[in-house]
Amino acid sequence: MTEKWWYDSVIYQIYPKSFNDSNNDGIGDLRGIIEKLDYLNRLGIDLIWLSPVFSSPMKDNGYDIDDYYAIAEQFGSMEDMEELIAEADKRGIGIMMDLVINHSSDQHRWFKESRKSKNNPKRDYYIWKEPKADGGPPTNWRSIFGGSAWTYDQQTEQYYLHTFAEEQPDLNWENKKLRQELYQMVNWWLDKGLAGFRVDAISYIKKSGFKDQKVNGPDGLSSIFEASANQPGILDLLNELKAETFSNYQIVTVAELYAEDNKRMQEFAGDDAPFDLVFDFRHVDLDLSEGSEWFKARDWDLIELKERLNEIQKTYADDRRAAIFWENHDQPRSLNKYLNEAEINDYSIKMLAAVFMLQRGIPFIYQGQEIGMSNVKFENIDDYQDLATHGLYQEALKAGYDKEEVMEVVWRRSRDNSRTPMQWSDAENAGFSKAEPWLKLNPNYQEINVEENLKDDNSVFYFYKELIKLRKNSPYQEIIVDGKYQPLLESDPNLIAYLREKEGERLLLAANFKNKEVEINLDYQVEEIILSNYPEFDYRALKAKMLDYQLSPFETILLKVK
Ligand code: GLC
Ligand code: CA
Repeated sequence: MTEKWWYDSVIYQIYPKSFNDSNNDGIGDLRGIIEKLDYLNRLGIDLIWLSPVFSSPMKDNGYDIDDYYAIAEQFGSMEDMEELIAEADKRGIGIMMDLVINHSSDQHRWFKESRKSKNNPKRDYYIWKEPKADGGPPTNWRSIFGGSAWTYDQQTEQYYLHTFAEEQPDLNWENKKLRQELYQMVNWWLDKGLAGFRVDAISYIKKSGFKDQKVNGPDGLSSIFEASANQPGILDLLNELKAETFSNYQIVTVAELYAEDNKRMQEFAGDDAPFDLVFDFRHVDLDLSEGSEWFKARDWDLIELKERLNEIQKTYADDRRAAIFWENHDQPRSLNKYLNEAEINDYSIKMLAAVFMLQRGIPFIYQGQEIGMSNVKFENIDDYQDLATHGLYQEALKAGYDKEEVMEVVWRRSRDNSRTPMQWSDAENAGFSKAEPWLKLNPNYQEINVEENLKDDNSVFYFYKELIKLRKNSPYQEIIVDGKYQPLLESDPNLIAYLREKEGERLLLAANFKNKEVEINLDYQVEEIILSNYPEFDYRALKAKMLDYQLSPFETILLKVK
């Protein structure tokens, strides 16, 4: 196994629009991030993954780029970006940018050219097809945000493909010139001193077949995932991308990927693969139903959650690493996903923190997670800004759900749950901005905010800080960062437990996932109590062994054991 500088890194994701507004226009920006670098430094993170800040018409908050070489005006300037990189670097923090290269904005000059005529030199930078005989879209593929993945263009009487919104046309990776332009751009950014990239929606760059697939919804369409994710040949493209760009720099890359099984997933991550890390979503998507009805709540239990977590650990074991996470900007808040409303409290929040942060892998903490931010419930659909939420809303209405049912889905799954402005204090607009924020705040900012967290030694913030310190600067660092992961109590319906082991040294994490006392029986000799979310508790009750021990509601302990 080759040692990499990032093996013990902790990564913090920033969604710039919602993080901190420095010029009081209601929109977070780069200077706002610079102002908060000391805060992040205090938390102890190593790297920031910055969701896109490139020039964009912002149909999908920057995941629709119209100029890869410019910064969106609302976020600041190229000088601000350079200053962010430099100021972060002074604090030992690296910046990872978000590489959105499956598609561009329909306002990108390439697409404006491409749609002009069939023989425009940029025509082939995108994917254009003839209509079916009946004039309809070339295939029955459903875009990820709902509706057909094809949009008809009057000008040339052909359809173009968009895996996401119609304002996000897919780039044609079969075109060599296009690929070269992308590689040039990636290197241009890497030369500015980036620490790495998070690579967006990369499963979709390879297309093949262009055939109708089995209908899997009342809309008569078929999920594009089935038709065009991870097509044969995708690895050749990705290996070329790596060879032409990433491999010439000391950086870390993490890709957003979906594949059918562990073996497939492994092909994308590791030293000999296109990316260092991949996000594997099976544990965060366990509340989603299959196919077009994915938004329907799916029943799950703790045993299944553990199975999924353990599978991920198995998939990225040995010389691979897992990207470990509960949250990101596309997911609702973890507290609401894994806990019932009435169960969310200081103990359960810390329990979730420890369970994920002590696994083997590179932890990603999403902004606000470190202070226990939770989902929001806007009464009116118009208060939601996310285009995917509106797509989902329309799709569900069409499928025959009534408004109330659909709002339940929105409350549970809208991406805006994690995009409400960062809660810095109980001041006006949570200290995020002096102007009205672009997206409404979660009203719970009065109680849940950074200022409160920093005042209280027992806060969620300091618990995260402690977990980070254990990984960065503690006698257990090696075991936590690199030790083997061995699941315990796999069929226990209430508890999560695992061992971490390196060179004969062992740590044991035991967590009560339930809001009741649960007995734990594990025959290990306890040598030391390293961490607990019940700091006031008297651990003499452990009596050196963990037999017949009653764990309090959500009690979580990290022990050194023999
Ligand atoms: C990824 C991003 C998501 C975006 C989509 C299209 O899934 O995480 O936010 O909407 O790609 O770029
Ligand atoms: Ca601003």
